[in-house]
Amino acid sequence: MSSEISVEGLLPLDAAAELERLAAEIAKHDKAYHQDDAPSISDAEYDALRRRNDAIEAAFPELVRADSPSNRVGSAVRDGFSKIVHARPMLSLNNAFSDEDVVGFFDRIRRFMNLPDNEVIELFAEPKIDGLSVSLRYEDQRLVHAATRGDGAVGEDVTQNIRTIDDIPVSLPGSAPALVEVRGEVYMGKGDFLDLNRRQEEAGAKTFANPRNAAAGSLRQLDSAVTANRPLRFFGYAWGDLSAPLGDTVEDVRQCFADWGVQLNEPSRVCNSAEEILAYYHDIIAMRAELPFDLDGTVYKVNRLDWHERLGAVSRAPRWAIAHKFPAEQAETRLNSITIQVGRTGTLTPVANLEPVNVGGVMVSRATLHNEDEIARKDVREGDWVVVQRAGDVIPQVVSVIAGRREAGSEAYVFPDRCPECGSHAVREDGEVARRCSGGLICPAQAVERLKHFVSRDAFDIEGFGGRNIETFWADGLIKTPADIFRLEAHRDVLTTREGWGEKSVVNLFEALRARRRIELPRFVFALGIRQVGQATARLLARHYGSLPALLDAMSMAQDSDTEAYRSLVDIDGIGPGVADDLLAFFAEQHNIDAVLDLADLIDVEAFDLLDTTESPVAGKTVVFTGSLETMGRSEAKARAESLGAKVSGSVSKKTDIVVAGPGAGSKLKKAEELGVDVMSEQAWLDLIDGY
Ligand code: IVH
Repeated sequence: MSSEISVEGLLPLDAAAELERLAAEIAKHDKAYHQDDAPSISDAEYDALRRRNDAIEAAFPELVRADSPSNRVGSAVRDGFSKIVHARPMLSLNNAFSDEDVVGFFDRIRRFMNLPDNEVIELFAEPKIDGLSVSLRYEDQRLVHAATRGDGAVGEDVTQNIRTIDDIPVSLPGSAPALVEVRGEVYMGKGDFLDLNRRQEEAGAKTFANPRNAAAGSLRQLDSAVTANRPLRFFGYAWGDLSAPLGDTVEDVRQCFADWGVQLNEPSRVCNSAEEILAYYHDIIAMRAELPFDLDGTVYKVNRLDWHERLGAVSRAPRWAIAHKFPAEQAETRLNSITIQVGRTGTLTPVANLEPVNVGGVMVSRATLHNEDEIARKDVREGDWVVVQRAGDVIPQVVSVIAGRREAGSEAYVFPDRCPECGSHAVREDGEVARRCSGGLICPAQAVERLKHFVSRDAFDIEGFGGRNIETFWADGLIKTPADIFRLEAHRDVLTTREGWGEKSVVNLFEALRARRRIELPRFVFALGIRQVGQATARLLARHYGSLPALLDAMSMAQDSDTEAYRSLVDIDGIGPGVADDLLAFFAEQHNIDAVLDLADLIDVEAFDLLDTTESPVAGKTVVFTGSLETMGRSEAKARAESLGAKVSGSVSKKTDIVVAGPGAGSKLKKAEELGVDVMSEQAWLDLIDGY
């Protein structure tokens, strides 16, 4: 913001234009923050905008706009929740950024109430937690509703979701007044936030930038079952409507809260002077990293409640309280290189490797660059000097480039369009910020998760073989692709000598694998773990294409969106262009096709029942190929048979309809003859299916 004209230098016309710009910009950021839970700038940048707005308004009071940001608290409620009008408005806080601001706060209070110099002003100092504020209304000691702050006057009804938070009592002891509104902050602890993001990442769901967004996003869920699974917590620090006073001081109120089982934001302290306040502030900063929750500052409140009455509020904030914000913790350092991390679901995240630097007491050597748009927007280049920030966010970020320190000859960063782990195309879909690796099955960064999915219950469901086995077998290099799972029998010796793996468990595993060598097409498709292809979609695809070869053929042809194959794909009821894109991206990778074919060679993928839809002479028949084939490979023969609606089996039984026997056929041929199954030569088979 260094390019801006200082407030003193503004002419009225410029000031009016600047206020208009700031109103629009702040409104945009308010919406991003409050309604979308996705802030587009840091808190420090946002505060700077508001301060500039306030300074211009102070210099040009006649230009204050009707839609001035200073008349608004937070943001309008969003659709989806019903609204609750607050019995008493939910106020916000004015901010102090410097020691002088804190001294000024004391002075203003003294002046406002005309207190003598020797009258001590007791302030209650407490942490300012980064979450979202809610008001809990108890009538006759029972929680009746809970609302977010909204615009301060009207909030969202989040009662159902609030009831899922363990910290929040659903009833108060009989000693509590008949009507009480407890106000405070719903937040997420740092550790819980990291765990949640890990889970979200694993599920391919959106991750949160910081604990505040995670808390807000989790509380404002239309489905309270989702909220219930989110580790939300609550601190009480204020009150709204009351039928009887809770005491004479802020301390008294907090004692009531504690007696009722409401958690308090600690560590807090009563302070009697600006010096004591500043000592508290610095103590909190020193312990900030160790506290289990995120703070964005401290709050000082006049302890005496009768003084609250006298001091009152100006526009959106009380005169008796102030928030002392932490400076954004920033430092400058050199960005040595940019590397791309591939998450377990294939998301490519650019990471800045920094010359290690101390940022507010923590050594930082890596920082996130978020995504390719952010790199382009900030024009971040390898070798640049950059500003790094830990503004309460757990993950350090690169804020900006220091333009004057760029080395000559540096080049704009080109975001890779291939996955650095496996070389597959990294695809960015319309409307998405993230680029994703499409190497699914073969990408080492995703392999373990993919393999776990592959053996999971609704996929291959291999008995006794779960995620833990995948992890250890992967670590030992025994399995890299799904097909490797079916090649484990070749490692019998290694397996039997593994810790915790006796002869018996190996035999059991092989049996379980054998049982799964035959698999239904929908399961098979689902097991591939293609993005957006869940069980239902897998079934749709299986029904539509009937067999694996037919599906593979169609996926290859549909790569060109001008083909009948493409139209036929997107015409499938239930498959939109988005799903089609993910499917096609998967099958555009030769690695993936190879992995599928490799697997299909080792197992039997049953054709979906095509009896009604094909007139092929072998549709619905069970065929066994034995001996060596002369005109085609075994997998080709199998694929062709399946594409005609036949089921291909590895062994002969009473259910077998046709045995195709080539030279060298042995026991299977013998068995077929014993059972009286139709046996034919390769040529006879080819004649039979000729023309279909
Ligand atoms: S007191 C009338 N105390 O910060 C005073 N607010 O920036 C009401 N906040 O709207 C607020 N920690 O969401 C208070 N210890 C604390 C707080 C706190 C966080 C939030 C609250 C408030 C916002 C103002």
